[in-house]
Amino acid sequence: MNNPNISMCVVTGSAGFIGYHLSKRLLEQGAKVVGVDNLNDYYDVTLKETRLNSLQIHNNFTFIHADISDKSKVESIFAEYRPNVVVNLAAQAGVRYSIENPDVYMQSNVIGFYNILEACRHYPVDHLIYASSSSVYGANKKVPFEETDVVDHPISLYASTKKSNELSAYTYSHLYGIPTTGLRFFTVYGPMGRPDMSYYIFANKYFAGEPIQIYNNGDFENDLYRDFIYIDDIVEGIMKVVPRIPSGNVPHDLFNIGNNNPQKLMDFITLLEKAFSNTLGSHIEFIKVYQPVKPGDLPKTYASTERLHKAVGFQPKTSIEKGLQHFADWYVDYHNLKT
Ligand SMILES: NC(=O)c1ccc[n+]([C@@H]2O[C@H](COP(=O)([O-])OP(=O)(O)OC[C@H]3O[C@@H](n4cnc5c(N)ncnc54)[C@H](O)[C@@H]3O)[C@@H](O)[C@H]2O)c1
Repeated sequence: MNNPNISMCVVTGSAGFIGYHLSKRLLEQGAKVVGVDNLNDYYDVTLKETRLNSLQIHNNFTFIHADISDKSKVESIFAEYRPNVVVNLAAQAGVRYSIENPDVYMQSNVIGFYNILEACRHYPVDHLIYASSSSVYGANKKVPFEETDVVDHPISLYASTKKSNELSAYTYSHLYGIPTTGLRFFTVYGPMGRPDMSYYIFANKYFAGEPIQIYNNGDFENDLYRDFIYIDDIVEGIMKVVPRIPSGNVPHDLFNIGNNNPQKLMDFITLLEKAFSNTLGSHIEFIKVYQPVKPGDLPKTYASTERLHKAVGFQPKTSIEKGLQHFADWYVDYHNLKT
C-alpha cells in the first residue's frame, strides 16, 4: 500500500462522481473503504449503480446504503468500522436546484455533515476531509479566488451550506482537536461525471438533436472564463491531502482545489466538439443558441491553487483536450452511441 496512513477509510457519497473515483483509487492502493451513499434520484440512479458495481469487485470495499442525515446510523457505521480517515463527499450538489429544493440541502449538507462531525468526536479519527465548493466565493470579483478572501456573502443556499460546513469543521477542530481539512472544489469533469453539469448536458442535447444554450451573449471577444479540473487531478489532490494532517491549536485547514488556468467557455465547447468528432470518427458541431449572461454570473472565476501547491505539491496535469477526450470516449461507450 502506497499510503500507510489509511487503515480504514469511510467515503460518503461513494456512488457519486468524485466519491466513486476516489474510492477506486483508494482501493487500488490497498486501503479498506467503507462507502456510504443514499443513492438518491437527483440524477440517473443507474449511473450511481454502475459506479457502485465497479467498486464492488474489490474485496476491500463495503457498501452501506444509508443517509448521513440519520444520526444513529452514522454513529453505528463509525462504531462498527472505526475509520481512521473519513472523506465526506455526500451532499446535495447544484446551485440552481437549491432554489427550488432547499429542504434537502439543509438535511444532507448541514444535518448530515453535523452527524459526521459528531461521529468523529465519538469515534476519533486521524483526519476528516470534507467537500466545500468554489460557490462560497459568491459574487466576489477579485480573481483568482484565494482562501484568504472574505466569503461572507453566499448567494445560494447551496453555497451557504458549504460555508456552514467550513465553520462547523473549524469549531469541531477547535473544541475537540479533530483534524479537519476542507476542499473548495471548482468545476470537476470527466468520465462517469454528473449529468446535471453543462458539459454532460451539451452532450445529451447533441445526441438528442437539440440545441445547446450558451449564456455568454454570443460575445466571443468578452467570453466568460471558468476553471475546469479533470477528475484524476482532483483524486490526486485528495490523495495528497489525506496524509497531511493539520496540527496546531486548531487543526483545521482549507484549500482551493481547481486548475488555476481559466478556460474560455467557447474554447471549452469547441474542444468538446472536437473530442466527440474524434470518438465518432466524423466532424460534429453542436447547434448553439446564445443567451444573455445570467444575472450575477461573473466574467472570470478561477482558483488560486498556490496554497495547496505549497502544502502538498498539488499540480493538475491533465490538459482540457485530453480530459474531454476521455469524457467523450466514455460517454459514447456508456450510452451505446457508436455506430
Ligand atoms: N463535481 C463538482 O464539480 C463539485 C464542485 C464543487 C463542490 N463539489 C462537492 O463535492 C462533493 C461530491 O460531488 P460530486 O460531483 O461527486 O456529486 P454527486 O452528486 O455525484 O455525489 C454525491 C453523492 O452523495 C450522495 N448523497 C447525497 N446526499 C446524501 C445523504 N444525505 N446521505 C448519503 N448520501 C448522500 C448522492 O447519492 C451522490 O451519490 C459534493 O459535496 C459536492 O457539493 C463538487
